[in-house]
Amino acid sequence: MKLFIDTGATAEVEEIAAWGVLSGATTNPSLLAKEDGDPGEIIARICDLVGGPTSAEVVSEDPAGMIAEGHALKAIHENIVVKVPFCKAGLEATKSLTGDGIPVNMTLVFSPNQALLAAASGATYVSCFLGRLDDISVDSAAVLGEIVDCFQAGGVESEIIAASIRHPEHVVTCARLGCEIATIPPKIFHQMLDHPLTTAGAEQFTKDWESRPEFGEWLRALVAGNG
Ligand code: E4P
Repeated sequence: MKLFIDTGATAEVEEIAAWGVLSGATTNPSLLAKEDGDPGEIIARICDLVGGPTSAEVVSEDPAGMIAEGHALKAIHENIVVKVPFCKAGLEATKSLTGDGIPVNMTLVFSPNQALLAAASGATYVSCFLGRLDDISVDSAAVLGEIVDCFQAGGVESEIIAASIRHPEHVVTCARLGCEIATIPPKIFHQMLDHPLTTAGAEQFTKDWESRPEFGEWLRALVAGNG
């Protein structure tokens, strides 16, 4: 499963991109509204940092407006994927944008039927929101699993993005269900790193190595000789 980062904060993208784990990014109007600076510059910077598909969302509510915004957003950077909200106008806009060769991430998808409509309109990516389903006491894993099954059974080419990720266990669920992509907030990436046994194990390795100072001398000489 590919990992995308879900944020408008360029400093956090820069940090996590350096780990070498990112395949893309997603933003939305709410995330960008939290940031200072020009949204176009932020989006372009994120595109450069992740070096992969980066979603930027339209805000118009009619097909013509969505299409015009989609073309303008795509002109910001070659990695842009136009994010279009699920609705009748969004389906029409998606058909047009993808027909013009512009990749679309259809967002705000909460059911298998919505996902099937999004895919039929030509969406490159279909974003299913897990956390917001959990918030209304709907089993998000069951919904995501149904979408994965529907797409696999029908040979649908659209890739599923699991979004609205709220904790590391959501990420594991997405991977187990066969979802192609999870888009993950920076805070959850940090939570995915941590395990007390890793911390304790690393501390013990350091302590044992330092108990033999001559080993440190040997390793430094080895590195110098290799330089
Ligand atoms: C990503 O594409 C979505 O916009 C995002 O994951 C939504 O997350 P939220 O439900 O935590 O706002």
